[in-house]
Amino acid sequence: MDKLLISGGTELSGEAVISGAKNAALPILCASLLTAEPLHLTNVPQLNDIATMLRLLGEMGVGVDRDDDGLTLAGAGLDNPVASYERVKTMRASILVLGPLVARCGEARVSLPGGCAIGARPVDQHIKGLQAMGAEITVEHGYVHARAARLKGARICTDMVTVTGTENLMMAACLADGETIIENAAREPEVVDLANCLVSMGARISGAGTDVIRIQGVDRLHGATHSIMPDRIETGTYLCAAAATGGNIRLTRTSAAYLDTVVDKLMDAGCDIVVERDAIRLAAPARLKAVSLRTAPYPAFPTDMQAQFMAINCVADGVATIRETIFENRFMHVNELMRLGANIQIEGNNAIVRGVDTLEGAMVMATDLRASASLVIAGLVARGETLIDRIYHLDRGYERIEEKLAALGAAVRRVT
Ligand code: EPZ
Repeated sequence: MDKLLISGGTELSGEAVISGAKNAALPILCASLLTAEPLHLTNVPQLNDIATMLRLLGEMGVGVDRDDDGLTLAGAGLDNPVASYERVKTMRASILVLGPLVARCGEARVSLPGGCAIGARPVDQHIKGLQAMGAEITVEHGYVHARAARLKGARICTDMVTVTGTENLMMAACLADGETIIENAAREPEVVDLANCLVSMGARISGAGTDVIRIQGVDRLHGATHSIMPDRIETGTYLCAAAATGGNIRLTRTSAAYLDTVVDKLMDAGCDIVVERDAIRLAAPARLKAVSLRTAPYPAFPTDMQAQFMAINCVADGVATIRETIFENRFMHVNELMRLGANIQIEGNNAIVRGVDTLEGAMVMATDLRASASLVIAGLVARGETLIDRIYHLDRGYERIEEKLAALGAAVRRVT
């Protein structure tokens, strides 16, 4: 099992290139199920989660071809609308095949994803929305069985804002008979990127990026070419790493357009940030000021940046309160950060972080994707060596992380 060995104390400097967004690429890969024509994608990140999704689609019969500028997915071969437990248990985003399969094939058999480290993460809203569109759904032996000769447009209001729930229902609605209105829809930029891709395939969608999305069903979708948007969470993660180490970096092929709350918090912490057309620069102060935050659905502060901000608060000047409102167990990084000398108290869904002058390197264990990122940031500032175990969590969502960090001057290497 790979580990990451970090020698802390280096101020990050230089440039790094940001990859395509994992959480846009995953639903967009599933959009290939909606048409028999080829879908050509560029700027697809090379990540374990992407490889998992491509294997799942391949098992369903979708052709997957890589060429030097991207991927071509051929939905013409789709002949097996089944997502097995073996595949789904390794990546809960596999649930994103459910809506497209019912819409294209009239049936689907998809394993329930089960919970994960950060919470139970049920998919009841995905099921409720498809039932509203006329799908007959039974859940037995851990599988969702869905059938519909043709889905019908419906008015759906999800009980809570759900990103992949919105994406699943939006994809299903593209081929439904009539208009579907999704209220309380997720406004995340990745939802908008998916909608843009679907529209380029012939879908009729309006309102993506707002909390009411309207989809006029069509008989079929056609092929298209789409470039995946930059990864805003990867961008925010490297900004935090530079901020924590007192560094000065420039990130390219990205945009601050979807990071307003993150940029605001980093500026509150004392960083100078310059936004360019497709790049962002950060110069950090010698020591950050503590910044409190509260996670919530977009455009509020993203839960996927919570762990990274906890790491920077560990060595900031002052006390920060971090409130996690999306997932019930997204503080798995706290105990590991405390092994490095952090001073954190958990009170319900609040974490009180009292900044300390220095962290001391230690052996720690990654528990989930963004928790791993917070341990990397803490290791970059800790005195001495930090060895992070189970970094397969990191490889799910950060492309070539040790190369990108090393290019920014970090003393980091992967050990097996
Ligand atoms: C997406 O997960 C992202 N994953 C997550 O990123 C992200 O943290 C999350 O949205 C919130 O922004 C992808 O896009 C692939 P939700 P998702 O449905 O869609 C509850 C990362 O680090 N809920 O918006 O699974 C749920 O339990 C990952 O890249 C239900 O109760 O999250 C949670 O408390 C982690 N029933 C809340 O809603 C449902 O049917 C929001 O979940 C659906 C959701």
